[in-house]
Amino acid sequence: MKIAVCGKGGVGKTLIAAGIAHSFAKNGIKTIVIDADPSPNLALTLGLSPEEASKILPISENKELIESKTTTDYSGVYRLSFTVDDIVREYSVQTSFGVNLIVMGTVKSAGSGCTCPANAVVRSLLLHLVVERDEAVILDMEAGVEHMGRGTAKHVDTLLIVADANVKALETAKHIHDLATKTDIKQALLIANKIANNIQKETVERFAEKNNLQILDFVPYDSKVVEAEMRGETPLKYEDSAAMQVIGKLHTKLA
Ligand SMILES: Nc1ncnc2c1ncn2[C@@H]1O[C@H](COP(=O)(O)OP(=O)(O)OP(=O)(O)O)[C@@H](O)[C@H]1O
Ligand SMILES: [Mg+2]
Repeated sequence: MKIAVCGKGGVGKTLIAAGIAHSFAKNGIKTIVIDADPSPNLALTLGLSPEEASKILPISENKELIESKTTTDYSGVYRLSFTVDDIVREYSVQTSFGVNLIVMGTVKSAGSGCTCPANAVVRSLLLHLVVERDEAVILDMEAGVEHMGRGTAKHVDTLLIVADANVKALETAKHIHDLATKTDIKQALLIANKIANNIQKETVERFAEKNNLQILDFVPYDSKVVEAEMRGETPLKYEDSAAMQVIGKLHTKLA
């Protein structure tokens, strides 16, 4: 199963991507979570220390990998395929939650015509990552809609679009959803996050109904998450907190 988590900046993409990955791994499924945000911070949410996170070499900066994958082909044309095993063995970092993390690094816009090897490898890895039935790959995307144009999330089974009750976040969600319906993505579902009361819940429900967005779930606003992040801890360890209770069950709704 390949899932991409996207949405406006700050809505909770990284927390939800990490939480879903954690649940899959806990259930014995080989799980890779890919930080596809050019300013990566998924490592911290997965419980790595800032020192450990700073030692991770992003794929886009892995010269050896890029050369090995791109020297034999015509310039600018790369045919690559990766399996989950390749990636886990060679490029991922194991976190304390049993999730294998891989950090992509910066990928420039495909629209800018960039065909440099690093971009080709990163894009190709996302596009040609072959996933078996009993494996999960979760992509934590950069904020906004640009990645839809680049096609980095094009070959996932499910696009999870995160929004809070703010109309700007909802409009971004709608925009992503509209773009997704023009691609091969099988389903695009909305997750309403940081929902603090019924008014917020109803706001999201009305918006979703009006714009044909299917809601997967509502994640409550949770001060335990905020406090954990303030202390530099991973919120994932507070499994009984209100938000993590809901996030912890999302994988069953997706399976
Ligand atoms: N349900 C929630 N309740 C309270 N706080 C939350 C909740 N979900 C996320 N947050 C907080 O909101 C902030 C942003 O979350 P997160 O980093 O996951 O968002 P993001 O969409 O990945 O942001 P970015 O666009 O910067 O990558 C974090 O401080 C996080 O702790
Ligand atoms: Mg993020």
